[in-house]
Amino acid sequence: MKFRFVSPAFISLIVAVVVFSCGSGKQNNNQTKSKGKMKVESKVFGNVDGKEVYLFTLQNNKGMSVSITNYGGIITAVYTPGKNGKSEDVVLGFDNLQSYLDGHPYFGALVGRYGNRIAKGKFVLDGHEYTLAVNNGENHLHGGLVGFDKKVWEAEPFQKDNEAGLKLHYLSKDMEEGYPGNLDVHVTYTLSDMNELKIEYSATTDKPTPVNLTSHSYFNLTGGEENVMNHEVEINANRYVVVNESLIPTGELRASSGTPMDFSKMQSIGSRYSQVDGGYDHCYVLNKDSNELSLAAKVVEPQSGRTMEVWTTEPGVQFYTGNFLDGTLTGMNGVVYKKNYGFCFEAQHFPDSPNQPDFPSSILKPGETYKQTTLYKFSVQ
Ligand code: GLA
Repeated sequence: MKFRFVSPAFISLIVAVVVFSCGSGKQNNNQTKSKGKMKVESKVFGNVDGKEVYLFTLQNNKGMSVSITNYGGIITAVYTPGKNGKSEDVVLGFDNLQSYLDGHPYFGALVGRYGNRIAKGKFVLDGHEYTLAVNNGENHLHGGLVGFDKKVWEAEPFQKDNEAGLKLHYLSKDMEEGYPGNLDVHVTYTLSDMNELKIEYSATTDKPTPVNLTSHSYFNLTGGEENVMNHEVEINANRYVVVNESLIPTGELRASSGTPMDFSKMQSIGSRYSQVDGGYDHCYVLNKDSNELSLAAKVVEPQSGRTMEVWTTEPGVQFYTGNFLDGTLTGMNGVVYKKNYGFCFEAQHFPDSPNQPDFPSSILKPGETYKQTTLYKFSVQ
């Protein structure tokens, strides 16, 4: 069933009916029961520019659920158990659409057409200079003024054995926010019965264009009880992208060993945080030489026992520790989002790649298919 822009009567029908149980149809009853029930529930979340917006909740039978709205493809909540068995929300987000419309720093959003910054919003491609919308000082950030995080995506929930998911589709028109080419984007979220949330991205274009899609969830594995300084983090990287005071890469990839930037061994976020100017907001160069799905980072929150692994096909991961949060936003469950109340692992190509000839290319050409996968895996220790 596709959720396009449908009538109110149809919405009521959807709300009443769209509860999918995994294994229905082709499996016999015993198999269905032994495999448990994975569900996708949906409800109307609101309306943007005359288009209906939904909230879909994927639920497995290991106590995990993930809520996603087709406004911005935003992950609004991720409930996952701690060592006491209690499932709590481990991402920053809101329980109503209006709070997202009022403005927020990309909580849980699908970011595109280009994640992170492009210096001065300019780049040259095939001899032509393009000028993008500028929304971060003099720079372009996360796709511009109206990035993919603010678009209403077409949505189609699905369920399979031991998986439940949501397919999203958006057509970004030629010159949207200044980018060349019609970019046809598909993103699939899948929750497994192994407590893995997989995000698969694919895109095609009719003109060469930069593409760098990412997911901008802010995690707090305590369930929002305190800031993230006691979370322990390991990143599978020995180098990071050096940036200037506007967070634009200088072009240097610097070794992190022996510095406060070094997370090659498990370290708490807070242990050296005060030694890093402005806090962590850096792209790490993952230790890999191909685009295989590989482990990028591990996080342990000692009090709840929750752990998270990040796997990705991307060459980099932006580690951001919510340095710009300032307590002005209150989220789900009444948690005030103060400085450092969440951390992000945004798997992506390096910032400003269109202007950095030595970085892995982020240019997609007609006839090619952009394909990336990122996986967040939760467990308890
Ligand atoms: C990314 C950037 C940060 C900040 C956040 C959103 O992580 O690197 O500098 O812009 O997004 O607030």
